[in-house]
Amino acid sequence: MFEGYRYAPRARAAIARSAGSCALVIASLAASFAGASAQTQPAVLYHNYCSVCHGDKGDGRSRAAAALVPPPKDFTDRAARRDLTRERIVAAIKYGRPGTAMVGWTTQLSERDIERLADYVLAQFVRRESLGDPRGRAIYAKNCAVCHGDRGEGAVWAAANMARPPRNFGAPEAQSLTRDAMIAAVTHGRPGTAMAGFGTQLSRQDIAAVVDFVRTAFMAPDISGTRAHGGREADAASAPAGVDMTAVFPNGLKGDAKRGSTFYLANCATCHGARGDGEGPRAYFINPKPRRFTDEAARARYNRVALYAGIAEGTLGSEMPAWNKVLNEQQIADVAEYVFQAFIRGRADAIRPADR
Ligand code: HEC
Ligand code: HEC
Ligand code: HEC
Repeated sequence: MFEGYRYAPRARAAIARSAGSCALVIASLAASFAGASAQTQPAVLYHNYCSVCHGDKGDGRSRAAAALVPPPKDFTDRAARRDLTRERIVAAIKYGRPGTAMVGWTTQLSERDIERLADYVLAQFVRRESLGDPRGRAIYAKNCAVCHGDRGEGAVWAAANMARPPRNFGAPEAQSLTRDAMIAAVTHGRPGTAMAGFGTQLSRQDIAAVVDFVRTAFMAPDISGTRAHGGREADAASAPAGVDMTAVFPNGLKGDAKRGSTFYLANCATCHGARGDGEGPRAYFINPKPRRFTDEAARARYNRVALYAGIAEGTLGSEMPAWNKVLNEQQIADVAEYVFQAFIRGRADAIRPADR
């Protein structure tokens, strides 16, 4: 059943179906005059494959746009600047956006072209004016980045050395910080922490500028819809105690670990490693890194239910595909069962791949 597995064409068909035939026609039109070539410049790739929907200026103004619900992303607006990380752009180009006209391009474009396109979109449209107000950015770089990190996530050294580490501005909890509270914190500091007041060094306008910069550049909403972007390490480390490891799959499914192992080795090991240790050959090239199923935190956290959901839905903004676009429920249960038994429970030796 796993023979002849092809991710992209089936996913494309499924997505295009759900997005309506109009999108399919537009997408295949774009593809048909594209003419793939390994050496094509990213600007040409963009023109050939993307501008038909996203527009020559990346602002979503194209003739196709009127026919599409949701409309093509405007790469130049504020929201895009806040939300579109490189990883998210790469993921969108590879796997598309389910239920929209944005289909995955892995059959037309090589891995390398996808990366070049993502860089092009970022540099050309998204970051055209640098993130946030340039003055705020400069103040941040000079005064704040040392503790709060270049990307507002909290510098590694600071997290390790301070009793109260700096805020991770990208974490969902940070979203409840109001502009006023932030201005107060920057002006007066936070007593008993490393956060000193800047009220004597920076003017009120500068403080407002740096706070606005932090808010625009870092305090992005959760891109996965369910989870913190940039909060991954934290959520893996704080594995909930008392996860029920005997929980069963949804809908009465029973996984077949042997069948799952064949599939795992063919399709998942490239990233997650044959031993489930996250050291597959592709792992080196991608960020965030594939989950290590053999970590203590993973072992405490991934029961069958969590594995099933994680595999089915994928992780937006990472290279982890949503496998429910290409696998049926039974196949997802099979591979989840294998991961569970082999790595979470550590019984890989007991399971030999079926028909290899
Ligand atoms: C057939 C029309 C169409 C084509 C062709 C197309 N897109 Fe899209 N794209 C869309 C639509 C519609 C959305 C909005 C999807 C949504 O709202 O989730 C979108 C969204 C996106 C996003 C945002 C994803 C996110 O996470 O919000 C990116 C990045 C993107 N497209 C890049 C590209 C690139 C690069 C190409 C060329 C390889 C391309 N698109 C080709 C229609 C298209
Ligand atoms: C020496 C390290 C350090 C520097 C430099 C620093 N911060 Fe902080 N910052 C911290 C720490 C630690 C906290 C967490 C305080 C707490 O938990 O209450 C923090 C918290 C904050 C908060 C959140 C306050 C809250 O209510 O939780 C804001 C906003 C902030 N910093 C902005 C800035 C800005 C803007 C700058 C630069 C002008 C800056 N910080 C410079 C260490 C630093
Ligand atoms: C192209 C690389 C890649 C492939 C192929 C891949 N994964 Fe992943 N996977 C990832 C990455 C990256 C993450 C981590 C995302 C994160 O940090 O949130 C991940 C996360 C996961 C998670 C945790 C999800 C969660 O919500 O916590 C599970 C479970 C998983 N993968 C299982 C699989 C299985 C099973 C397969 C094969 C059917 C597979 N993966 C194929 C890259 C990949």
